[in-house]
Amino acid sequence: MCIRGLVGLLMTLSLATPAQAIVNGGPIAPGDWSFMVAVGCSSNSTAKWCSDRRMGSDDKGMNAPQFCGGTLIAPHVVVTAAHCIFQSTGEQLTAADLIVGGGLIDLTKIKAATTYSTVASVTVHPKYNKTSQVYDVAILTLNKQIANTSPIAYSPKLAKAGDKVQVAGWGEIDDQGSGSPIANVVTLDLYSDEECDAKVGTTFDKTSMQCALGKNGTKWLDACQGDSGGPMIGTINGTRMLVGSVSWGARCADGKPGIYAKLPTMLPEVLQITPPPPAAVNIKQTKPGTPATPKNVKIARNGSATITIPAPTDGQDVEFWTVSCSGKAGKFQSQASSLDFVVGGLRPKTVFTCKVNATNSLGTSAWSKPFKLS
Ligand code: ARG
Repeated sequence: MCIRGLVGLLMTLSLATPAQAIVNGGPIAPGDWSFMVAVGCSSNSTAKWCSDRRMGSDDKGMNAPQFCGGTLIAPHVVVTAAHCIFQSTGEQLTAADLIVGGGLIDLTKIKAATTYSTVASVTVHPKYNKTSQVYDVAILTLNKQIANTSPIAYSPKLAKAGDKVQVAGWGEIDDQGSGSPIANVVTLDLYSDEECDAKVGTTFDKTSMQCALGKNGTKWLDACQGDSGGPMIGTINGTRMLVGSVSWGARCADGKPGIYAKLPTMLPEVLQITPPPPAAVNIKQTKPGTPATPKNVKIARNGSATITIPAPTDGQDVEFWTVSCSGKAGKFQSQASSLDFVVGGLRPKTVFTCKVNATNSLGTSAWSKPFKLS
């Protein structure tokens, strides 16, 4: 092979490597998925399905109760899968059984009242069929806006076969059933209806389903149990938009494409019969402002330093703070969820220059001015 061919092949290989679940994915970046929510059982649900999934039934925040994903298309309006409502216990869950959490990358932190909402109404697509899984979409309206969330527009038209699409969720990260507290994302290739027909078989319904799969080296990339209802994002005329939602798959990441609801035509049909959300308080939410600079911090004799970060004054929530420092004695980075945090293992009287940033699900603030640790 000539050099140009080799360079070309290497370039294609590196370009074809999709972002790293979901299975074989990588963690989502702050700011990219602030429209994604988790659907779980409310603490007062009496449904059998909810008996060991109630929010508050353990101390893991939404980590244990989460059983489906969803996408905010307005501050109070969630798109999810209809099959998340019709459970294997034979029960049809009602608004009172459900809770929706979001605005955080780490599910275990979805505990505070600002991080979730109860559900006001559940509207299932009228053509949903639980045997065939056609028209697998439902709309949940929320009783209040969730902090640090920001809705995404849904696309009026389908993403094209061959397009790269991204799918994220807090679902299982392998076929064995372990979930992930941090949401993961994969980049997949969208297939044509004909390819889906050929690969999936007669259960594929091209009016309400689309299929996609990704590959990274020898690893298949796919959604899995617990990701259902969650977003498939495409790029439509240069803008990220909701084009699908996780529906079903035989197994996970076994080389067969996963099935996603074909939202562009189905969403308007179900939104038309969805009751309006109860309270329309649309609070403008943004990433946190730039944190103020901590005063020079002393390293104690035992090698620890307590850094107190003055919070940004814009009132936006912060999910975590990161301090990164470098100096003659090396580099370190530390993360904490409170304003005060202690770093240890430092040598007294060494000088580090540090920077702070503040992150919530809508993004990371600009670095503050450097400060010294000595
Ligand atoms: N039905 C699953 C759920 O309830 C989603 C499965 C998606 N599977 C796949 N291989 N893409 O979470």
